[in-house]
Amino acid sequence: MPVGTLATVKGILPQQLKDVGVQQVLANTYHLALRPGADIVEEMGGLHQFMNWDGPILTDSGGFQVFSLAKMRKLDEKQVVFRSHIDGSVFELSPEKAVRIQEQLGADCIMCLDECPPHDVSPDEMQRAVDLTTRWATRCRDAQQRSDQALFGIVQGGTHQKMRERSAEGLVPLDLPGYAVGGLSVGEDPADMYTTLDFTTPLLPADRPRYLMGVGRPQDLLESVVRGIDLFDCVMPTRNGRNAQAFTSAGPVRLRNQKHQRDPGPLDPECGCLTCTSYSRAYLRHLFIAGEMLGPILLSLHNIAFYQQLLRNLREAIQLNKAAEFKAVQLARWGISN
Ligand code: GUN
Ligand code: ZN
Repeated sequence: MPVGTLATVKGILPQQLKDVGVQQVLANTYHLALRPGADIVEEMGGLHQFMNWDGPILTDSGGFQVFSLAKMRKLDEKQVVFRSHIDGSVFELSPEKAVRIQEQLGADCIMCLDECPPHDVSPDEMQRAVDLTTRWATRCRDAQQRSDQALFGIVQGGTHQKMRERSAEGLVPLDLPGYAVGGLSVGEDPADMYTTLDFTTPLLPADRPRYLMGVGRPQDLLESVVRGIDLFDCVMPTRNGRNAQAFTSAGPVRLRNQKHQRDPGPLDPECGCLTCTSYSRAYLRHLFIAGEMLGPILLSLHNIAFYQQLLRNLREAIQLNKAAEFKAVQLARWGISN
């Protein structure tokens, strides 16, 4: 899922998302509740109508953003109270309120309110966060009024096997339509993330989507899919694209680099996106050097197309029982040891 935090995948039109094969987009409860407000989105007919995207939408619950963005915050059993990063106003988020807001926004998939502690907190702190996340998930399920939204639980527990088991044992009995693995890609070693997935995905029902939140680099997607992950969101394709970094079949490319100045060739000769079929590297570099807005747009579009193509190819390899082989070939092409 490309990230459309504020009900827009920055710089990209919904039709362009469709054209490169995007199936679902992510939006953020935290940001939309602060601005423009859930009431306004609801009044405008819900997120789909508001942003003119008729495909599936998943909204994150806001818990993670409170911990990464909000100024002051006070967490207790009932809720988390914080100050908006926009205007400092005080805002309260409880499991019931997170569900209520997500019902107003009207996404297809909604997330339980969770607590995502730093990966290196003490075992006691981690266990407290895991248990709170479980109690909050129960409250989220009980608070659900609409029956047309899939509520996902979020497994926490850092990189500790015992904690992940404890979290899954609390959440799986809720029989939710999907499960996410949270609390990863928060500063731990990538190898620790892979090991954590090795013992976490088998704890989650195989007949429900497993969603790895906030991940990741192209190699992380490959490593996670072979470990049982079905769904991702990440700002990387768009954020890095805005920053002149492209992901290509030959590895990452920095478009501001001097070496592209006179390069008439496409960004990625293996990509069929609008950017790669219509423009040269020299032109893309020029746009970034000149500070033109089309640069970030064209690179975001390509990067989203690249991620979609990568995962389409991986799905095909899975059908042919060749996922491991596909992963090895891709990593080798990107110069990453397997
Ligand atoms: N996005 C990335 N990681 C997380 C997480 O652990 N929880 C939530 N709610 N969102 C996330
Ligand atoms: Zn492309």
